[in-house]
Amino acid sequence: MAARVSEWLDERLGWRKVWEAIFLRKVPKTNWYYTLGSAALFLAVNQIVTGILLTIYYVPTPDHAYDSVQFITGQVPAGWLIRGLHHWGASAMVILVGLHMLRVIVHGSYKYPREVTWFTGVFLLLAVIGFGFTGYLLPWDQKAFWATIVGTRIAAVTPLIGDWILRVMRGGDELSAVTLARFFGVHVWVLPAALLSLILVHLYLVIRIGISALPKRGE
Ligand code: HEM
Repeated sequence: MAARVSEWLDERLGWRKVWEAIFLRKVPKTNWYYTLGSAALFLAVNQIVTGILLTIYYVPTPDHAYDSVQFITGQVPAGWLIRGLHHWGASAMVILVGLHMLRVIVHGSYKYPREVTWFTGVFLLLAVIGFGFTGYLLPWDQKAFWATIVGTRIAAVTPLIGDWILRVMRGGDELSAVTLARFFGVHVWVLPAALLSLILVHLYLVIRIGISALPKRGE
């Protein structure tokens, strides 16, 4: 029965070819360092799932943001776990993406024909850092507030357009409700859309080109 259903679906969707291309493709001899990209991918899924769950109770306004985070941690069933997974997952993701990038550098996997895979990776790294920066403000506690004051001031030392960048980031001259709304919007809409599109292209290229073999002496 199951075989007939899968045959019926394959005739119409051609899913077997897609399955074979993704999961049954040939890979060269690899080692554990090659799993770092997949580990980052796993964490990206963790961040998306736990992030969506957090938005059920989180309120992005100066009046309620702090209390809503306290409520999530103290009152919501398993809220502490969901928040913890999201909080520590964020740090783990930065570390894993950094290590994945390092393995790509050490193996020379950024070279022809994987230049575009590398470029999408650079934007993925920027997206991950952007998630960290915008997410840090959301609990709206003292640490979040002052870290964002410092972070936006650092951006303000950019030559010529520094003041403009500061005002775009803060939504004015000072940190306010507008800043919180802006950071929240970027954190839950702009960056996830960018991350998912970039991951799609990144993985398409990894599958299309195939994974690079370990470099040999003299190569
Ligand atoms: C959210 C972040 C990222 C995810 C989820 C991700 C995911 C992956 C996966 C699953 C692979 C295949 C397995 C592997 O080589 O580990 C891969 C390969 C690759 N990644 Fe990433 N990656 C990310 C960030 C980056 C960054 C920051 C760079 C570099 C700037 C990068 C450059 C590459 C390159 C060049 C390959 C091809 C490696 C080869 O063919 O040997 N990636 N990535």
